[in-house]
Order: sequence, then structure tokens, then C-alpha cells
Amino acid sequence: MQKLFTGLQPSGALHIGNYFGVLKQTAEMLKDADGLVMVADYHALTTLKNPEQLRTNIIDVVRDYVAVGVDPKKAIIFQQSDVPEHTELTWIFNTLITMSFLELAHAYKDKEVRGLETNVGLFDYPVLMASDILLYDTDLVPVGQDQRQHVEYAREIAAKFNNQFGETFKEPREKILDAVAVVPGTDGKKMSKSYGNTIPLFGTRDEIAKAVMGIVTDSNAGRPENVYAIHKLFRSESELDALYDANKGNYKVLKEALIADIEALIGPMREKRDSISDADIKRIIKEGGEKARERASIKMVDVRKKIGVTI
Ligand code: ADP
Ligand code: TRP
Repeated sequence: MQKLFTGLQPSGALHIGNYFGVLKQTAEMLKDADGLVMVADYHALTTLKNPEQLRTNIIDVVRDYVAVGVDPKKAIIFQQSDVPEHTELTWIFNTLITMSFLELAHAYKDKEVRGLETNVGLFDYPVLMASDILLYDTDLVPVGQDQRQHVEYAREIAAKFNNQFGETFKEPREKILDAVAVVPGTDGKKMSKSYGNTIPLFGTRDEIAKAVMGIVTDSNAGRPENVYAIHKLFRSESELDALYDANKGNYKVLKEALIADIEALIGPMREKRDSISDADIKRIIKEGGEKARERASIKMVDVRKKIGVTI
């Protein structure tokens, strides 16, 4: 059975870009895989310094995963900080790779260009992510397009370690669903919580309606491309073409059709989400953490032997 690993930062409410880009396929793939799903809380700490918010977000991410269909009885759902082997392995990898190798990382370069604080953790972000993936002999990493480079880093770090100390880590591959690799936001640019152009995945019906009504449309009464691009996620193009032809220029009707389609998908998931208590979530995280730690600690016994610290 294929070993699958994925993670999500607990850094705020999810949007439909996260869902179509990665959550939907992750939930699907986990149905017949040996899967781990990690809440990347130490990654989030590189940007989020609000303990109350972090606590809430961690619980929310797990609730979201379960609501979109990840079965905690099948997949191991856990919190990164519950498994200290991740940070331990990061240190070992840090001693193997060069500064110039990490300076090529997009995520870090982007933040630097935007003038944001670039702490050492942010610089080291790809190495912690490589540790996440490599600790569990992962075959496949389902992620969105913007994480492709991080999985490449994991592969290269695995190869580097194996070269130096002998075959230890499997080289993982990313799994990116091309058709929806980049879900556009309400302004036509990539949907992202940092651009304020999102449609919330678990918003109320009103919040979703408000976001859809705010989709930017041009004034030439043709097909509203930004609405269509999002609508394509919910219906086949032939169905949509008929609908959009019949309502040329009537943006309100088209947006209302989109709201109804979003609601039909999200409504049942929202109900499921609301039925999961905090206590359920904490139990899922606790049990997942124990299972993940058991696997990670076995791997670290081998790693410690290979590098020579086990005497
Ligand atoms: P954001 O850009 O909103 O901050 P994150 O960086 O937290 O989103 O992304 C979480 C996951 O969702 C990643 O795997 C990412 O690739 C995926 N993802 C985010 N936005 C989109 C999008 N617009 N289209 C497709 N996938 C996305
Ligand atoms: N960096 C990923 C993101 O922002 C989250 C993440 C952390 C991850 N560790 C991972 C994803 C390991 C896949 C595998 O979305």
C-alpha cells in the first residue's frame, strides 16, 4: 500500500482553493493508502505569534480535515509538535545542507522581497518539511502547486543523506492535481488568504454569498470570466456553457447559481463539521500523535546509528 503524507499549517480559515487544490484529493487518496495527515504547527510558528489563535487554529484544521472526509480511523491525524523527532531530524539535516541551497527556496525569497520578517525558522522551513515527509518513508505527498519545490527539497535532502550515510530515506514524489492546481480568487488572481480574495470553505451561507457577489466582473456584458473560472470547479463546462449563454450579461443570476452550487457541496460538510466536538478533536490528535511518534522514533533509531551518535 502506498504511503501518503500531507500537512497543512494551522494559519487560518480554509478557503475553497485549499479544498479543490489539495483537501479534496487528499481525502480521496487517503481512502486506500497508508496515510498521515499533519497539522504543521511549528511551521505556522514562523509567522503566527499569537498562542490563543494558534490553539484555536490547530483544533479547527483537524475539524476541517474530518469534515472534508478524512477518516481518523484510517489515517493518522497528528500535530507536528507532538512528535519531537521532526525537529531533531531537522537539526541533523541542517548540518548536511548548505545555506546557498536554501537561499533558492521560493517561499523564503518571496517573503524577503515583500519586506516581511525572515526569521531563521522561515529560512529553514523546507528542511523541517523534509523531515516531516522523510521520517515516515513517504511515497506520495499530495499538495498544491506552490508546494512543489518543497517536495523537491525533501527528495534532494534524502539523496544527500543517503549518499553520505547509506540508504536510509525513501525519495518522495509530489502529487499535484493539475486541473485545479491554481484555483482563482474573487479577483481572478490565485485564491489566497493573504490576498483577501477568498471564498471561505466553511463560512456561513451569508459569508459565502457575500464573497461570491464580490467577484470582480468586467463591464462588457460578455461572459464573467472570474465567476466562470470558479464555477468550473462545480459543474462540467458543457453544463456551464449552456447556463452562461442563456444568461449572458446577467451577472446576478450567474452568481446566484454559483452560490447555490457551492452551498450544495458545502452544506453537508458544514453540518458534519458542526457535529464534531472539541473533545473529539483532542482525542483524535492524542491518538494520532502516539501512532506517529511510534513510527518516527523507530526511524530515528536507524538515523542515529547511521550518523554515529549511538555509541
Ligand atoms: P494560502 O495561499 O491561502 O495561504 P496555504 O499556503 O495555507 O494557502 O495553502 C494550503 C494548501 O492549499 C497548500 O497545499 C496550497 O498549495 C493549497 N492551495 C492554496 N491556495 C490554493 C489555490 N488557490 N489553488 C490551489 N491550491 C491552493
Ligand atoms: N508547507 C505546507 C503548506 O504550507 C504544509 C506542510 C508542512 C506540509 N509539512 C508538510 C505539506 C509535509 C506536505 C508535507 O501547505
